[in-house]
Order: sequence, then C-alpha cells, then structure tokens
Amino acid sequence: MSGHGDPIRMTSSKSGPLTGVAEVPGDKSISHRALILGALSIGETKITGLLEGEDVLDTAKAMRAFGAQVTQHGPGEWTVHGVGVGGFAEPEQVIDCGNSGTGVRLIMGCMASSPITATFTGDGSLRKRPMGRVTDPIALFGAQSYGREGGRLPMTIVGAVDPVPVTYHTPMASAQVKSAVLLAGLNAPGETVVIETTPTRDHTERMLRGFGADVRVETVAEGHKITLKGQPELSGQVVAVPRDPSSAAFPVCAALITPGSDIMVPGVSQNPTRNGLFVTLQEMGGKIEFLNEREEGGEPVADLRVRYSELVGIEVPPKRSASMIDEYPVLSVVAAFATGKTVMKGVHELRVKESDRIDAMARGLEANGVTIEEDEDTLIVHGMGAGGVPGGGTAATHLDHRIAMSFMVLGMNSVAAVSVDDGTPIATSFPIFEGLMAGLGASITRG
Ligand code: S3P
Repeated sequence: MSGHGDPIRMTSSKSGPLTGVAEVPGDKSISHRALILGALSIGETKITGLLEGEDVLDTAKAMRAFGAQVTQHGPGEWTVHGVGVGGFAEPEQVIDCGNSGTGVRLIMGCMASSPITATFTGDGSLRKRPMGRVTDPIALFGAQSYGREGGRLPMTIVGAVDPVPVTYHTPMASAQVKSAVLLAGLNAPGETVVIETTPTRDHTERMLRGFGADVRVETVAEGHKITLKGQPELSGQVVAVPRDPSSAAFPVCAALITPGSDIMVPGVSQNPTRNGLFVTLQEMGGKIEFLNEREEGGEPVADLRVRYSELVGIEVPPKRSASMIDEYPVLSVVAAFATGKTVMKGVHELRVKESDRIDAMARGLEANGVTIEEDEDTLIVHGMGAGGVPGGGTAATHLDHRIAMSFMVLGMNSVAAVSVDDGTPIATSFPIFEGLMAGLGASITRG
C-alpha cells in the first residue's frame, strides 16, 4: 500500500472477540532518530526492529542523499555508516519526506548548522503543515530558509557557514521542534539549550547520550531545560527499537471495546513521555496489565495484556496531552463506546498534525451517529455505551494514517459497518495493520 498512489476504500465491521498476540512494528519516533543519529556518527550503527513504514523509509533515503550509507539486511535489520557531525554532503536532489513531519523537521534541524543547501518537499498533507516552528529557531543558528507562504514546503534551507549556539524556549509542546534545535546544536560550538514548559517525548535526548553526546536535563522554574555540548564526536551504536506505543494503541483500544477480547501486545515502549493513553484508558476502567517490565535499547518496555472492559467517560487532564498527542483520535473512538462523556482539552496541536485531527474525528464520528462538541482546543465525545454506536458512515482520512486506523476500530463494534475513503496512508506508520488485525479476528476489507 502506498500513501501516494490511488485511494483505497476500506471497511470494518463487527467480528467476534479479538484474541492472540499483536506484534506491532517498531517505534516511528525512535526509528527516524536511529537513522539520523547513525548518519551523524562515525562508524557503523546497527539497528534492529526498525519500522519499515513509508515515513521512516523516506528518512533512510534522505540520509543517503546527505552522504550516509544506509543498508537493509533483513526485516527491521539495518546498518548506517555515518559521515560524522558536520559531515553532511549537499544533496543533489530535492529531499522528499513524503507524509512525515518528524522526518522533515528533524532533518532540517540537522543540516541547518552545516554550510550546505537543501530543498525539502512532501505529500499533499506535509505541504500544508507549518515549518515556521523549525525555521524560526534554526535562523538563530544562522540558517536561512525560503519557502512558500505561511512557511510551507517546498522549502530551501541554506545552512549556516559559522553557526552559533542557541538558547531557545519552545513556544509549543513539540518534540519535533526540540529535536530540530538539539540536532542543529550538534554542529555549533559551545552549549545549545532548549527550554520546554511541558516535557515532550525525550527519545532525542536519550539517544544523543547513547551515541556519546554530553546532554544535561534539569527541571527549572520555566519547566524542563536540556543542555547539549556542541561538536561532539558521535560514534556508531547498536540500537534495538522497541515496539511503538502509538501503533499498539489500535489493537489495545480495539480489544478494550470488543466483547470477550483478551490479547497480548508484547515489547511495547513504556517511556513515561509516551504512555498517556494507557493511563487514561485505565482511568476509564480499561483492563490493561503491564507484564514483564524491563529495559530494552535504553527505553522501558512491557508486555501488555488487554481484556474487554466496560468503560466510563472521563476528563483527560490537559497536562497529559503531550504524552498521548497521537492517541487522541483512537481515544475519541473508545470514548464513543463508553458511558458518559469524555472531555479532551488542551489539544489544539491536533489541528496541525497530518490532518486537522479534531475536525477529521469530529466529522467522521458525526457521520457515524456519535454526538461531539468541539472548539479550537477541545474535543468532547458523548459516549453511547458498548453496542450503542450506529456506524454506517464513511470518514474522510485526509492522508492521515491515524484517522484511517481509528475509524477501522470504530467499525469493529458499531451496529453497521464503517468505511474510510482511503486506507493507503496506514502504510506510513503501520504497514502490517490489516494483517495484524485480521490475525486477532477483526473483519477489515478493502472496498
Ligand atoms: C514526534 C513528535 C510529535 C508527534 C509525532 C512524532 C516525534 O509531534 O505528533 O507523531 O517523533 O518527535 P510534535 O513534535 O509536533 O508534537
């Protein structure tokens, strides 16, 4: 399946209980970073469990264009021979990051402090997304950017010839922005500092340390302060990518709302900057057990056992939003099967994801008989209880993988089947979604 080819309609309908083991793919955020830090290191980086979704494959291609040797050896097994910090070559072609905001923003960051020029583009979704959040801070290092109106792709970045280190307060809770600044700071002399009010996913900090950079993290009055010592020599590492909690969310939520279900989802990252959905589902009454808790590849992981549960709506604390930002679409589906309403506030960042996710979920849920309320920063879903969702509608996915998968979960328990206009974007993050869900007993068809 390709997110760039013809649309493929998909339909999901009621099945029996979901049972078995759901081996979800590797973490998308960590996979991007493993390739990028491998490319910025000297020597060989060996990666296992790499997500082979379109987003990450586009980052692999980009790293080759900047001069790294990136090779696939088997499923999920890759090596990167890097060029070292400051060693990026100027790409001969436009860098196409496809659907990936993480890919383009992180790569813009890491070339911004090198004396090279690169032009970036992406698919119809990525070309609508704001890049000013990255071009503003990289300008402080001395990089220049020339893009379309509103800071949109395609965009050319002219990297700084003599980069200076930067202290930057991120104006929004965004790990992509934080990471772009830290990656730009790698090739600047002195210390680059990022201060974020709300802690966001910390994979860049963890992995930079693992590759040999000096990274300090402190809690200060303004929030969370990360200090990176510039111009380190990074050396190739072995990276075992844990399974993606954002992909695990789909079988986990499907099992919670499908009567009689009992599934295992092994080896899922439990990084506290990513686990907000699981905390929320437990507060709603979800039966999720965290078994065999351990550390793998510098990240905490656990095996999840998930059973069907009768759920109640809750108010999700806004301060939790950064730790579950990609999971609100599927949470709003789960909320439709709960009793009472689920209030999701402090979620305005959802409006600038692969699609405007508040709008996409609101319209799709309404089309399937669910009552919602929304404003710029809020989504409220009025739960209809287990078995109470009418379904029967088609949701527009707007090139957004998580919207497509969320509505497939809705259809698994609604009275009538639910369709999406285009399931191809699922391949960006979860290329085995249809087979994996079918293996658990779900009924998802094309057409
Ligand atoms: C990501 C950060 C988040 C998230 C995205 C992955 C990352 O985006 O939504 O899917 O890997 O850094 P923001 O940084 O824009 O919140």
